Amino acid sequence: MTNGFPPGFTWGAATASYQVEGAVSEDGRGPSIWDTFAHTPGRIVDGTTGDVADDHYHLFAEDIRLLADLGLKAYRFSIAWPRIVPTGSGAANPAGLDFYRRLAETCLEYGVTPYATLYHWDLPQPLEDGGGWLVRDTAERFRDYAAITHSGLSDVITHWITLNEPWCSTFLGYGNGEHAPGRPSGADALKAAHHLLLGHGLALEAIRSPEGSYGIALNPAPIHAASDSEADRDAARRIDGLRNRLFLEPLLVGQYPADVLEDTGMASWFADFADDLAAISAPLDFMGVNYYCPTTVAAPDGPISSPGTPSTQPGSENVVAVDTGLPKTQMGWPIEAKGLRDILVTINKLAPELPLYVTENGAAYPDELVDGAVADVERQAYLEQHISVCRELVSEGLPLKGYFAWSLMDNFEWAFGFSRRFGLVYVDYETQQRTVKDSGRWLQRFLSA
Ligand code: FCB
Repeated sequence: MTNGFPPGFTWGAATASYQVEGAVSEDGRGPSIWDTFAHTPGRIVDGTTGDVADDHYHLFAEDIRLLADLGLKAYRFSIAWPRIVPTGSGAANPAGLDFYRRLAETCLEYGVTPYATLYHWDLPQPLEDGGGWLVRDTAERFRDYAAITHSGLSDVITHWITLNEPWCSTFLGYGNGEHAPGRPSGADALKAAHHLLLGHGLALEAIRSPEGSYGIALNPAPIHAASDSEADRDAARRIDGLRNRLFLEPLLVGQYPADVLEDTGMASWFADFADDLAAISAPLDFMGVNYYCPTTVAAPDGPISSPGTPSTQPGSENVVAVDTGLPKTQMGWPIEAKGLRDILVTINKLAPELPLYVTENGAAYPDELVDGAVADVERQAYLEQHISVCRELVSEGLPLKGYFAWSLMDNFEWAFGFSRRFGLVYVDYETQQRTVKDSGRWLQRFLSA
């Protein structure tokens, strides 16, 4: 037992390709929607891009050594689709496959198990130009890319995650447009949700083999009503539908939540694609849960929906998030470790046997490097609280199999650019020097205890 965890429990840290790799035009990589988006003035708060980021493309061996040194035994990274299939469709780029082979082999040399995510948001730009996730063809191209990647790398990578957080792709990419491709489309965004889930199902069908383990990473969260009023409870039902049930139910139960399709006016569009649910709900070997914070919502006095508005909450545009006074991280996200318990228990009730992993958990704080150290006490406290919840759940018998910190190192935090740091390791973006933060040292001690 490590601090109350069974010996087989997986401890890891996560990153994502566009956030850390840099080298955006090297070795045949094609442009992705995040290249286009980050280079569009006004999209990224500090005006930065992922062109260089952590230069992980060149420094991955050092980074994996650091990860192993912290006592972590698993590395969750993502594979950039435009490195493998530069235009999104067609033949494989051998140099792209070769990069991830070297990365995975380096993990294995350090006794670290690679967990590869196939889609952490870097859609090849030509596919977006052809309609992106709003069209079915993208799901089929995702299947092809997944098959190419899996057949090229399944001898060195056995743990596969199809999609990272389809909620974000749907409601930030196409809903309110805060993320790439930045194409706000209100209720239309639900088409993206369906095509993402279909892409997951088709990819799973194409790559599943008995030697591997296959899952998806979602970002579900507990949604609380601000009061007991009927209006607030209805607001919570709606937001829970969009955030959680829209993804969990098709994957785990094989149906879309009728109330969500009703609220968003999308029921008849979805009815035409009911046959896709068989692929979408094919059995998973595990589910990954990325958890940061809960949300509390209230209904306004006026109308609850404004059809046609770009929004992360189509059908519930006017529902507001309520500050309940919890302490917050630099992202403004309220800290409530119990929310991790609530959401894992909810999923466990839907699929009692399904192994679960926390595939991301962590916090942003305005870290400062002083005399070669980063005293990030708040991040350490955040990690301790959430890891404690995991320990309790494991001891209660919930099939929670692992925990990945977000992130191994500071990186390009999407629309926030480099203005938010989530790492266990501090990165000086001028020199690319890495410094393990106090939270990383704490985790190292915790894991060796
Ligand atoms: C998640 C993303 C990850 C990172 C964290 C802070 O939504 O999956 O890439 O940005 O948030």
